[in-house]
Amino acid sequence: SADLRALLLSRIADVPDHPQPGVVFKDITPLLDDPAAFGALTEAFTDLCARYRVDKVVGLEARGFILAAPVALRAGVGFVPVRKAGKLPRATLRQGYELEYGTAEIEIHADALAPGERVLVIDDVLATGGTADAALQLIRRAGAEVAGVAVLLELGFLAGRERLEPGLKGAPLEAL
Ligand code: PRP
Ligand code: HPA
Repeated sequence: SADLRALLLSRIADVPDHPQPGVVFKDITPLLDDPAAFGALTEAFTDLCARYRVDKVVGLEARGFILAAPVALRAGVGFVPVRKAGKLPRATLRQGYELEYGTAEIEIHADALAPGERVLVIDDVLATGGTADAALQLIRRAGAEVAGVAVLLELGFLAGRERLEPGLKGAPLEAL
């Protein structure tokens, strides 16, 4: 709703020149520090879990963990972390992706998702879409189904939605 969007936007701070000159960083820490806003965001994500009949919530390190964990609990489904490479202790699937400069790798535990499970991916910000696209590939490689991707904020000028579109294969991308 328009009220929800206004509340969420009022709790996201613009930080000029972070992490480098010319970038305006969207800081979500004021939202996390406001239980009314954090709670409303959690409820909105949880509604999506019901609408998409989600079996698992996947959160993307690190800020995605903070947003996704309370949603999984509220929805009554498991939480699964997608981490930067080298952090998860057991057997993993690993996926590389392109950054603006260079490459990165993320991982999921190989046994974290069961074949056919419907997964909602949650993160704070969709920027270029590289991270979310790699996460979708991991979920499919694990044999699960992508029920959707949900983010707090989409940086439209970075065209992440376009980059993610082939990987979504028709699944919804929601930016709250
Ligand atoms: C940020 C953000 C997303 C990703 C978006 O995470 O939280 O996960 O970048 O960028 P993209 O759409 O261009 O891939 P970051 O890698 O800074 O990690 P952090 O949450 O651990 O700080
Ligand atoms: N804020 C938070 N995370 C991000 C941003 C941003 O502006 N850009 C890329 N990841």
